[in-house]
Amino acid sequence: MQDSGNPRGSAPKSFRIKSFGCQMNVYDGERMGELLGAHGLSPAAEGEAADLVVLNTCHIRERAAEKVYSDIGRLRKNEGGAPMIAVAGCVAQAEGEEIFARAPSVGVVVGPQSYHRLPELVARAAAGERASDTDMPADAKFAALPERRRVGPSAFLTVQEGCDKFCTYCVVPYTRGAEISRPFAALLAEAERLVVGGACEITLLGQNVNAWTGEDAKGRAVGLDGLIRALAALPDLARIRYTTSHPNDVTEGLIEAHGEVAKLMPFLHLPVQSGSDRVLKAMNRSHTVDSYLRLLERFRAARPDIAVSGDFIVGFPGESEAEFEDTLRLVDAVGYAQAYSFKYSPRPGTPAATMDLQVAPEVMDERLQRLQAALNRGQIAFNRASVGRRCTVLVERAGKRPGQWLGKSPWLQSVHFAGPGAARVRIGDLVEVELAAAGPNSLEGRVLERVAA
Ligand code: SAH
Ligand code: SF4
Ligand code: F3S
Repeated sequence: MQDSGNPRGSAPKSFRIKSFGCQMNVYDGERMGELLGAHGLSPAAEGEAADLVVLNTCHIRERAAEKVYSDIGRLRKNEGGAPMIAVAGCVAQAEGEEIFARAPSVGVVVGPQSYHRLPELVARAAAGERASDTDMPADAKFAALPERRRVGPSAFLTVQEGCDKFCTYCVVPYTRGAEISRPFAALLAEAERLVVGGACEITLLGQNVNAWTGEDAKGRAVGLDGLIRALAALPDLARIRYTTSHPNDVTEGLIEAHGEVAKLMPFLHLPVQSGSDRVLKAMNRSHTVDSYLRLLERFRAARPDIAVSGDFIVGFPGESEAEFEDTLRLVDAVGYAQAYSFKYSPRPGTPAATMDLQVAPEVMDERLQRLQAALNRGQIAFNRASVGRRCTVLVERAGKRPGQWLGKSPWLQSVHFAGPGAARVRIGDLVEVELAAAGPNSLEGRVLERVAA
């Protein structure tokens, strides 16, 4: 038995969870919080020191992964000196017990597929052990977690985990394991709980969410569209979203659902990464620029107002100036409503990390700036084109100004509104607005009617 990283040496009573990375980590963070709550720990109030701090980490890019170590140093100062530190998430999965060597103050290391064992690991660490679990049991975790409780108006629901695609730059297949789909009945039950707990919008999550498959209540094989249609039958659920989808897992059924299921929001996050077929091939993306564009055409035929979002990487090894310009051309051709763009970050153990012709950092900086300028232009154009539209806004929080509210349009734009029509509005309301003015990152709405509580 090794020495524990928990200098207090007693069972923690309060906890704080800090989640980084993707929405699936946000979901996992919520579930870890519920689990610790069910074991008698309470969340530390804002500004108060916690006995246990869980860092729910991300390994996707180098900077994200290194952040955990600087955070650990800071925590020891800010959290009253010596909280027990648990490292969860994808850095925990990727680095395992090496974390104890690099950061001796860490007491627990727990991977994304084994966090249902967190309370037990915390107890072991409190007893003086360094406790770690990075097993990857397929789907055991969910059955062992407590039921969902109160949630906000917009809730996440992980339906699919892991990735079998092995893009050459990406750590996710290693940190999250093989693709698995949670069972249909378990998802329907969790969605019902979320709605009872206050959700009127559910975002279905997965590293490849549209790879989800299952059997419906009648034993028929269904894809993500079948799950969406089943969820749409929940009377108090107003909106359904899903993210992140992969071009290769798009089905005709999913496209059709966008034309037929009113509760399915007109928004599609479909990462493409690059506008060059040669780069896509080197990335092992298994789609081409053309096949991607044809998919978007089909989505737009089914749902003409669908907002398209994407992910991009600049500076993949060997990316030439001309290939980068192909990406700029694709961005202009698609007209993204929003997007995420990143500089390529070599990740240990991935094939791209050892490829020749790594792109110089200053070239990546310059390309990222040009790409982001193009994406911003697209976003502003999309927002401006929305002015005059009537739509619902799901109210998520109070705005900065008194009497002002902030929520999301069906196209996932931030919309704020104030004035007399906003007087009786509450968080979780769906409000009918006319989009009256557009900025680069948000729109202003004029309230027409409060639709539902
Ligand atoms: N499964 C999703 C994405 C998961 S990771 C998909 O394939 O669409 C989220 C995004 O991070 C990716 O889409 C990619 O744009 C970016 N990313 C992943 N690995 C990266 C790396 N090594 N360097 C830079 N960006 C990366
Ligand atoms: Fe990573 Fe590619 Fe899998 Fe997305 S599809 S998680 S980018 S390996
Ligand atoms: Fe990061 Fe893991 Fe999500 S690496 S992006 S937290 S799947």
